[in-house]
Amino acid sequence: MIRQRPREQLKLGAFFHPTGHHVASWLDETAQIDAGTNFRHYVELARTAERGGFDLMFLADAVAVRDGQPEALRRWPQYMAYFEPLTLLSAIAAVTEHLGLVATATTSYNEPYNVARKFASLDLISGGRAGWNVVTSSNESEAFNFGREAHFEHGARYDRAVEFADVVRGLWDSWDEDAFIRDRSIQMYYDPAKLHELNHKGKHFTVKGPLNVARSPQGQPVIFQAGSSEVGRELAARTAEAVFTPQHVLTEAQDFYADLKGRMGKFGRRSEHLKVMPGLNPVVGRTLAEARDKHAHLQSLIHPDVGIEVLSYSLGKFDLRGYDLDGPLPDAVAQQNTNAGQTSFKQILGWARDEKLTIRQLYQRFAGARGQRTVVGTASMIVDEMQAWFDGYGVDGFLIQPATLPGGLNDFVDLVIPELQDRGLFRTEYQGQTLRDNLGLPKPLSRHHAR
Ligand SMILES: Cc1cc2nc3c(=O)[nH]c(=O)nc-3n(C[C@H](O)[C@H](O)[C@H](O)COP(=O)(O)O)c2cc1C
Repeated sequence: MIRQRPREQLKLGAFFHPTGHHVASWLDETAQIDAGTNFRHYVELARTAERGGFDLMFLADAVAVRDGQPEALRRWPQYMAYFEPLTLLSAIAAVTEHLGLVATATTSYNEPYNVARKFASLDLISGGRAGWNVVTSSNESEAFNFGREAHFEHGARYDRAVEFADVVRGLWDSWDEDAFIRDRSIQMYYDPAKLHELNHKGKHFTVKGPLNVARSPQGQPVIFQAGSSEVGRELAARTAEAVFTPQHVLTEAQDFYADLKGRMGKFGRRSEHLKVMPGLNPVVGRTLAEARDKHAHLQSLIHPDVGIEVLSYSLGKFDLRGYDLDGPLPDAVAQQNTNAGQTSFKQILGWARDEKLTIRQLYQRFAGARGQRTVVGTASMIVDEMQAWFDGYGVDGFLIQPATLPGGLNDFVDLVIPELQDRGLFRTEYQGQTLRDNLGLPKPLSRHHAR
């Protein structure tokens, strides 16, 4: 295949959902069953990702267990008990050298000062490899752990997120890069002129600053964003340097790509300073038959209670129990006034409407990779797909979401990465020192630089 973007290479992230991205992955005998709290498991995953040359590993997060039907939850254990991601990434930093370390910290139930401090610290600890995934929580039960009786409404979540991200970035500029003189002879540890208070007073936050962490190696940790609604896109165009998004069809991915990059100009930003990295759940086999068998096995492990629960969760908690699994999604789902995240909600309704999928077919499509695109095939088939999306300007890279862990990651690194490298689509060694270098993102100047 002739390369359309010969001077560029794919960016790759590895998304580690504890036992794997398939909702039934923990039932597969090859998955690490206690993954969520098994540190050795994450060390192995990080080292494998680094062996493959991945730009980054990513950990999702919520600040509550999922709520739902107990019969379903006991069969859907991912994210019920697991490590706090920044703590885990700090430990991973010590056993890796190149891999970017990216985690979610929600803007809905955090304070900007805490978030700024933690990610700046991780950037220092890792020598410039930290990234913050900015999300607005879609998990309602988080509200009940933070003194609230109801979740923020969707618009309010994003309103808060915009200001939150501004404050965090402002705090990251607290110290100039050369602020620390550390000169015993003149008893000057730092130059007070190079320390800046933020003095932010906004609608949601009042933050004096400065941050009690020095400017970190990347200038600022890299900002990721993972909501694709209208307001989510605006936040991304304004603030994000990489975007995670579920995309299933190349033409729609191309529209999303062009739309997002097209919005950046009004914020004074250049389109190449944001990398679009849709999720991809590859099920790899040495033959097509082997890959299909692996996928069919995982799909057969989805318990209907879990399938319904996963759908309900993304459909504004609409209770689908009691409906015919082989019948259509009830019309009432679309008519409810939901406060759910919009991206998954619209995706599921779109499949139900356009392809007339039954409830069972919907949960098999959605629950398998929780809304992300699955490609089942040999390494060369998977690389054909990745290349077509890259050459067609639908993506700058992918967030790889292995169906099972560690097996699915091993397959990707051992089978798919060499094929990508053979075609010149992916690096054979790390060139950069920092996550920014590897992603091809500029180091931001401090807002106090001109002065
Ligand atoms: C790859 C990916 C990772 C995500 N990670 C998280 C996460 O860790 N925590 C979270 O609350 N939401 C996560 N989300 C979901 C959304 O970012 C978030 O819930 C947002 O509120 C959805 O808003 P929307 O209405 O713009 O879709 C993720 C989404 C994607 C595509």
